[in-house]
Amino acid sequence: MISIKQLLAQTSGDLTSNIPTAYNFTPNNIHLPVSDELFEDSIPTIDFSLLTSGTPEQRSKIINDLGKACQDWGFFVVINHGVPESLMKVMIETCGEFFKLTEEEKQEYAGKHILDPIFYGTSINGAATQVLFWRDFIKFFVHPKFHCPSKPIGFREISMEYSKRTWEVAKVLMKGISMSLGLEEGYVEKAMNLESGLQLMAANLYPPCSQPEVAIGLPPHSDHGLLTLLIHNGICGLQVQHKEKWVNVYSNPNAFVVNIGNHMEILSNGKYKSAFHRALVNGTDTRISIPILYGPALETVVSPAPELLVDNETSNPPACAGMTYREYLEMLQAKINAKIHN
Ligand code: OGA
Ligand code: NI
Repeated sequence: MISIKQLLAQTSGDLTSNIPTAYNFTPNNIHLPVSDELFEDSIPTIDFSLLTSGTPEQRSKIINDLGKACQDWGFFVVINHGVPESLMKVMIETCGEFFKLTEEEKQEYAGKHILDPIFYGTSINGAATQVLFWRDFIKFFVHPKFHCPSKPIGFREISMEYSKRTWEVAKVLMKGISMSLGLEEGYVEKAMNLESGLQLMAANLYPPCSQPEVAIGLPPHSDHGLLTLLIHNGICGLQVQHKEKWVNVYSNPNAFVVNIGNHMEILSNGKYKSAFHRALVNGTDTRISIPILYGPALETVVSPAPELLVDNETSNPPACAGMTYREYLEMLQAKINAKIHN
């Protein structure tokens, strides 16, 4: 299966030609209208500095806002987080350099299984799925053991620094989220064994597409894990599903776009939403996005927090049965395999 970069090389990047029909995508949520958050509802913004150094009143207000954002949107933008803008910029540039390596160099990292420590691919799994996505990607686990492609130069060091700095942000957000659920601040960290938790770094490359209206970068999906922090190169394309509409996510490149993952939804017994989102492509610009996903330790059984099941007199029955994070990922892999073979 060839990458989008190779496909474009074959046509010398001709942006006037029709793309192969395998990339024609009819979104299953196509009936939903697009709402422009600049004019309508917009994704909540969380000022991170208030979580770490606000007055007690500011802190309790921001924790409340955070809980509301998790409940209403499952998405929010984090500003004033303290990760240097220069580090975010160099991370995006270095991921861009990775995609410029030769196909042979990148194929060294070609992946097959969702738990492969390093996974280079295109579409979903580089396999002959019916509809292809206009995206090349690299994914690598940076925790509990650190992995990273050795090329381009500096990728390892920059990724390590970036993953350490973002982890500091994620930890504070997990504390705020725990408190917003009425749990003690270390709850999520302890219950999910985050000291040996999975941390998955990814970079997505969406080259310009001659027929952006028929292709899709990433179809509607929700993320596994607890929390994803995403940065991008300033080109729009991410949309989140909110109240039966697709809402464009506009965020400053030095902010983090954060979303709740499926396992946080499970842990919160469905109170917090792991929202559907998708990535569109466009006809002129290359888009790069870098999500880093924080999950429980692989052997952790994730089920609704027992503390949330009894709410004074009214009891909330658990919305689902527990399974380990590993079992969940194996189940996702089995679904991908089924798609490939059917
Ligand atoms: C993802 C994802 C969105 C984007 O990689 O899971 O949702 O904007 N990416 O690239
Ligand atoms: Ni996603």
